Amino acid sequence: MDNRRVKIAPSILSADFARLGEQVAEAEQAGADCLHIDVMDGQFVPPITFGPVVVEAIRPKTSLPLEIHMMVVEPENHFHQLRDAGADRIIIHQEATAHLHLSAGQIRDMGMESGVAVNPGTSLSTVEEVISEIDLLLVMTVNPGWGGQPFIASSVRKISRARACLDEAKSKAMLEVDGGIKADNAALVVNAGADQLVAGSAVYNDNVSVFEAMAQLRSAICRVGDLG
Ligand code: DX5
Ligand code: ZN
Repeated sequence: MDNRRVKIAPSILSADFARLGEQVAEAEQAGADCLHIDVMDGQFVPPITFGPVVVEAIRPKTSLPLEIHMMVVEPENHFHQLRDAGADRIIIHQEATAHLHLSAGQIRDMGMESGVAVNPGTSLSTVEEVISEIDLLLVMTVNPGWGGQPFIASSVRKISRARACLDEAKSKAMLEVDGGIKADNAALVVNAGADQLVAGSAVYNDNVSVFEAMAQLRSAICRVGDLG
């Protein structure tokens, strides 16, 4: 196991929206590395969440980078608005655009980092040709659309394959995982090669404070060497 520092990106999907500003500040104070914002359009996935207006509202509340996970068909229609709202990174789904290479390049051209996500049922081979265009590869470890779902166990091998794929391409892109990440499986996914963990319901829930939840995740990640 190398000494890379694994990052934690709390997803505000499970936050208390009535006090979103406070919840964002809590995550930052608790040591979050980035904020993960799940934009859903009711088409690519059934739920509708929020869009650029909410990104704009969050922007002045934190100095953390804002990454936008677009579960949206034809995401390219919204890049400008999201950039103007304060997005630092935009992640689009391989399954949601006809022109993945073009769209990933456009995000960078607009001065943001570009990420590509793959659903659990999507092969990594579908994103091989865009690796040089991206700053982040997101392996979904649940089917997208909802927080609080169980981690799909077979994803661990997919994360390892994604790691190998990025390493082989000598890519500096981060490998992120999203869905069902908790303190009890965090070490497993880090050991498989993940650089950044999205955590929604593990961070925002009624059982522990955001501070405590983040501490639990951080200490789980630190145990990664034990799995060696
Ligand atoms: C699901 C979203 C996730 C979600 C994760 O479609 O992409 O970011 O917030 O929630 P948990 O961590 O609860 O699985
Ligand atoms: Zn997400």
